[in-house]
This record gives sequence, C-alpha cells and structure tokens, in this order.
Amino acid sequence: MSDGATARGSAMEREEARKIAEGLEHLSGFGNEHTSEAVPGALPVGRNSPQRAPLGLYAEQLSGSAFTEPRAENRRSWLYRIRPSAAHPAFTRTGNGALRSAPFAQTVPDPNRLRWNPLPDPAEGTDFLAGLWTLGGNGDVTQRSGMAVHLYHANASMRRVFSDADGELLIVPERGGLLLRTEFGLLHVEPGHIALIPRGVRFRVELLDETARGYVCENYGAPFRLPDLGPIGANGLANARDFRAPVAAYEDVEGPVEVVNKYCGNLWTATYGHSPLDVVAWHGNHVPYAYDLRRFNVMGTISYDHPDPSIFTVLTSPSDTPGLAGVDFVVFAPRWLVGEDTFRPPYFHRNVMSEYMGLIEGAYDAKTAGEGGFVPGGGSLHTMMSAHGPDRETFDRASAAELRPQKIDDGLAFMFETRWPVSLTPQAARADHLQQGYDDVWQGLERHFRPLH
Ligand SMILES: [Fe+2]
Repeated sequence: MSDGATARGSAMEREEARKIAEGLEHLSGFGNEHTSEAVPGALPVGRNSPQRAPLGLYAEQLSGSAFTEPRAENRRSWLYRIRPSAAHPAFTRTGNGALRSAPFAQTVPDPNRLRWNPLPDPAEGTDFLAGLWTLGGNGDVTQRSGMAVHLYHANASMRRVFSDADGELLIVPERGGLLLRTEFGLLHVEPGHIALIPRGVRFRVELLDETARGYVCENYGAPFRLPDLGPIGANGLANARDFRAPVAAYEDVEGPVEVVNKYCGNLWTATYGHSPLDVVAWHGNHVPYAYDLRRFNVMGTISYDHPDPSIFTVLTSPSDTPGLAGVDFVVFAPRWLVGEDTFRPPYFHRNVMSEYMGLIEGAYDAKTAGEGGFVPGGGSLHTMMSAHGPDRETFDRASAAELRPQKIDDGLAFMFETRWPVSLTPQAARADHLQQGYDDVWQGLERHFRPLH
C-alpha cells in the first residue's frame, strides 16, 4: 500500500472514530455505583456471581482497593465478559520506549526552576503508548506511592491494548481528540477535557485528528477523588454530576490482539487470541471517566487578596496525612478577577509542595506568552521550595493596572501539585527542548524599596 493510501485509510478510520465518539451516550456522576449492560439481560440481578452468569458470560471482579478498605474508599467493579481475563498466555518483556517509572534515581535532584518547550513531532506510526515520554516524578511504584509526569505525542491509533498495574492515568489532551475504548465502554475527550483510566483497566486510544499531544499524570497513590468542600458548601469546583462514565460496549473479536501491561515500571506484552475489551455488562465504582474542564465552577475572591490555588483543585489523591495530597490536579480556568487593592496574578511563592504546570491553550496570567515562553504543550517545574511567581512584565503591568473587573478567558492551564520533590529522567534533564535561561524571566525585577521619605 502506498503512503497515500495508508494516509487515506487513516483519515477514513479517524472519520469513523469521530462519528462514533460524537454519538456516545454516557452515565453521569463521580464515584457512583454505576450499572450498565450492552445487551439486555447481561447483568445478573440480585447477586454478583450466579452459578451460571447470564448469556454464557464469565463473572469477574476487578479490585481497585483492598477488600477491607473502608466503604468510602472501597473500589471494585464486577465485569461480565466473553472470556475471563485469566485466559491469556504468559507476558514477556518488551521495550519501555521513553516511558520511565519511580523511583527516579538516575539524575541528581535539581533545585532549579525548569521549563520545557513542547515535545518534538513523533516519528511516523507512533501510537499513544509508544508516544509516552516521561519527564520525572517521585515515590516508588512498588510501594504504590508518588506520581509520574508524562507527556505524549502520537500520530497513529493504537491497534494494541494497554493496562497499567502501577497506577491510574489522568490524561490531559492539549492537541487532538481521543476516542478511548476501555473494558467499560467508550469515552470521547477533546483538548480542554480530561480522562481517567483506573489502575489495571485495559484500554486503547484512537485518534480523532491527525496528531494528538498532551500530558499524563500517572498516579501511583490513592485514587483521585473530588476534594472536600468545607465552608464552600455542598456545590462548586468540579461538580460530581459533570463526570462522564462510559456505558458498556464490547468487542467480539477473535484473532491475535497484542496486550501490553505496565508492571512495576516495565512493559510486558502478550498476544491474546481475542480482544480483552469483551465486557458485555458491568457494575461498580472502579470505572474510567471523563470531564470537561470548562464545567469547573471557579471560585475566587470577591473582596481582596488572592486565594491559594488549592481553590482550583479538580481532583485530589489523598495521602495518609490529612490535607496533604500525594498529588492534586488543579486547573486555571476562565474566571473573573474583581479583587480590590490586590495584586491579581498569582503571588510570588516558595512551596513545600512541587508544582508541574502545563498549558492546554492560550496563555497563563503569570507569564507573558510567546516563543520560548510558557506555551501550549510545554511545561514548567517548580520543585520543592524553588522560588517562582510572575515575570517582570506581568509584575509591572499588574502593579499599575486599574482594578476594574476583568475576565481572564484566554487560556487554560493546569498543575500537578505533589507532596514530594519531582526528580527528572535523564531524557528530560538533557532534552533539546529544555529551555535554557528560564531564570531570566525573573531578572530585572527592580528594587522599589524606599525607606521613610
Ligand atoms: Fe506556586
């Protein structure tokens, strides 16, 4: 087949995938005990594991928490599938590509503020899995603690199926729509949305556009949940009803399917004789979901000062210390600024937590945009106790601005904020797209101090 014919084939596949993506139904809610069946009668009634499951299906439990964890933390789903997951050949090691895992001990931890340009374009035929590129992280996959920051770039749909035993995957598209075919059904995400694939759930990523690019937080720790709202009350920030879970949809495919399993930091592969996305019905709360970040109900000051950016938390992965997250996912969404006698951009800051920031579109209000700046697809890392804040131009402008109500609506930025320092992979520390001279952003902040006149 000529390249032209391959490209046309891919375009037709993308068109087909887009048609499917745009017609999807979904279940709504976060953390629900959902139920779904693709074929009427496939879901057993009144019990999980009847002597003979309906329609000749196999019953299988997927445990996302220990059996005995408290009810509020307990996560599991029951899957009714054409073949049990146990029916597979042995896995053998395969290459990890540019995917790396904690502990990240190959570089000396770097206290500097760092910023990267977007990843270079991927080689022809790069799928989502091959296109994962690890920047760094913390913790230890074997201890189920910590997180990794990955970026991805892809120009081909996955033919294979992937699952990650090491953690859940929070996918943040920056360029290109994705159709996620999971064991639980299909999800559609575009830039500005997020998708979450729980630990151990098999899935395949199909592209809806010629290329796809974005960010992934691999969370090794406790599953992301909605943050407590405290005095905010019963509503606000990310509202539970806006999360979309898939409805059951299955592949009845006999024939070789490659399944790749990430386990304790390495990729393992096996060729199944059937598609493992063969779940006809399911119920439970260990499920994939998607969310449109533009639905985020942004809260902020209506008097003075700048709330801490924790007010923008979409999802949090708690640790064993109350209030101290393994990782928070925070979004800087369009919002009004109305604070009086207030320096409105994010304040100068040193933080015990470590902050990786990415940009989905537009610009961020603490940094002036532009080539070599903080650009969509790029990212910055302000690790434990590194000093950061607005650049000089932003400081000068915001200090002199007339404080009329102002809409910030030209950008969508996010942050993975984690309790431990982020150590880099060698490929991130030595990347050509690592910007040189990021410190220059804060040079030229002039002395304004005037002792008593
Ligand atoms: Fe900060």
